[in-house]
Amino acid sequence: MLSLAVLGSGKGSNFQSIFEAIEEGRLAARIVCVISDVPEAFILERARRAGLPAEFVDCGPWRTKVEGEAEQRLLERLRAHGADTIALAGFMRMLKRGLISAYPGRIVNIHPSLLPAFPGLRAWQQALEYGVRVTGCTVHFVDEGMDTGPIIVQRTVPVLDDDTPDTLHARIQEQEHIAYPEALDLLARGRLRIEGRRVRRV
Ligand code: GAR
Repeated sequence: MLSLAVLGSGKGSNFQSIFEAIEEGRLAARIVCVISDVPEAFILERARRAGLPAEFVDCGPWRTKVEGEAEQRLLERLRAHGADTIALAGFMRMLKRGLISAYPGRIVNIHPSLLPAFPGLRAWQQALEYGVRVTGCTVHFVDEGMDTGPIIVQRTVPVLDDDTPDTLHARIQEQEHIAYPEALDLLARGRLRIEGRRVRRV
């Protein structure tokens, strides 16, 4: 059973899918806190409605990373809530060594492309502009690179001729909401072994 902290900066649909999977018995976890670096992020409102501890944490002056004092602050809040696993769900900052080494093999992220293609921001738009016919989503362990850690689960999504960035992202999100609870449940059940770059299922 995971004691899960969910971190997000946005609307929190992935948080919602994780919460529902737990409620429906598809994911062996409990959510100990939902944390956002954006005070007005809808993910916090969703968490409150679900009756979960929801907290804004000041993650520091750099909009793209959590470092230094802010990293210590975040770590302190995660520990205070008793989190043993961290799920990044649309959290738009990179984590640095202090946090990553405090949770070895226990931090996962969801990314809206088939990594290693299209890391970084607005991956669905990158895919559309590149002209790929298939994209998707990836759940992976977090390392110090940008969207580079060992891959746990991927799901594919076709790119249609009349797609806009919004329609494509919406179709990718449907698959994210399946992939993330599934990947977390594999972790919860001790079914994942990281072997170098690869994740083996045991
Ligand atoms: C998701 O599509 C997620 O894959 C993406 O942000 C969105 C958050 O949606 N994450 C990244 O781009 C991280 N590089 P949500 O707030 O509805 O879960």
